[in-house]
Amino acid sequence: MIGWTAVSGASGRDRLLSEIAERFGTPTYVYDLAAIRRQVRRLQGEFADAALLYAVKANPNGEVLRELARLGVGAESITLGELERVLLAGIPALRALVGGPGQDARLIDRAAELGVAQVSLDSRSQWELWRDRRHETNRFLVRINPQLDPGTHRHLATGAAASKFGMPESEALDLAAELARDGVLAGFHFHVGSQISSLSVYERLAEIVGRVFTARPEADTLDLGGGFAVPDFPLAEFAVIARDLAARSGARLLLEPGRFLVAEAEVLLTKVSHLKPGLVRHVIADAGMADLLRPALYGAQHPVRRLGDPHGGESADLDGPLCENADRLAQGVPLPGDLKRGDVLVVEQAGAYGMAMASNYASSLRPAEVAVDGDEVRLTRRRETTEDLLRLEFP
Ligand code: LLP
Repeated sequence: MIGWTAVSGASGRDRLLSEIAERFGTPTYVYDLAAIRRQVRRLQGEFADAALLYAVKANPNGEVLRELARLGVGAESITLGELERVLLAGIPALRALVGGPGQDARLIDRAAELGVAQVSLDSRSQWELWRDRRHETNRFLVRINPQLDPGTHRHLATGAAASKFGMPESEALDLAAELARDGVLAGFHFHVGSQISSLSVYERLAEIVGRVFTARPEADTLDLGGGFAVPDFPLAEFAVIARDLAARSGARLLLEPGRFLVAEAEVLLTKVSHLKPGLVRHVIADAGMADLLRPALYGAQHPVRRLGDPHGGESADLDGPLCENADRLAQGVPLPGDLKRGDVLVVEQAGAYGMAMASNYASSLRPAEVAVDGDEVRLTRRRETTEDLLRLEFP
């Protein structure tokens, strides 16, 4: 079998995808590890001194995590499951951060036992829980809600005033003062949102960053989170702003990229099950909202095309196999007029929050995952079976 990056041009790549669809069936997620490496190097090139902590929620696949471990990337985890994955993949606790608004006793105890390098506190209540569990010796970041509108989808605007994340500045400073007294303050954490393509939000953030680091000169870490939009994030311009913020704060920079590292490294292969001409031309695929939720949940637009063809054709809705209107991969997209049952379609930019958000809705079986690395093709997660699905209820 030929390799993804070893083949030249779109046709070689499509030949490989076609072999994968044939061998492993559909729906299947296909990852190109070389593309992930390229994205890591781009970030490492811009941020030689920063720590990169991959936001595991974007794509927790073991093969992806092992690749990132080899590249020296750390991880941001928000659940016990994510933390255990990270360790199994070879990312050491010293390069891990635990965050999120729901840290519970089990996650806290495990993170403390492992000695994870940083903890981001989302609330005072969380700090009290860490203290009650007698784990007040880690290093803590205080997450601030900067109350800024990052100009993204409302589900992704985590830095907006009404969002549940972080603390208002004054409350954050009170907590930071307490942590500093106990000698456990690392610094401050901001994650203003996801799919951010305009940098003006970071310019507005500068004032708050300036104030909090002036108030707490012992703070030595600035975590600017993730959120870099795919496909058009102005990385070089962002790097100038971020490095400047860190330098002025006298802080080491942490970044938590998720989507940026994996989104474009991966496609979802799906097959045409049925064609329904009519008022609207419906193409029923074997993948839908259970496999890729983003179009239904955020109105996300993933480019789709028939394998072997460029984008183009006549307008169609690409629908899934389940029984609700939201079960759709794309609406009003061009697909070839001569599409047939069994044709393989490629859904692009599916590497972030694709398989990560796949579910068993309607007892759907989650897709297979295949990793391509040079001339190697590996099944990294086999397709689920009905036995997998029923095991917990009908042992
Ligand atoms: N750091 C924190 C604290 C986060 O909450 C997130 C994402 C990230 C980093 C990584 O953000 P990224 O670089 O991937 O944008 N399911 C949605 C995205 C939710 C993002 C949640 N937090 C989607 O499919 O678009």
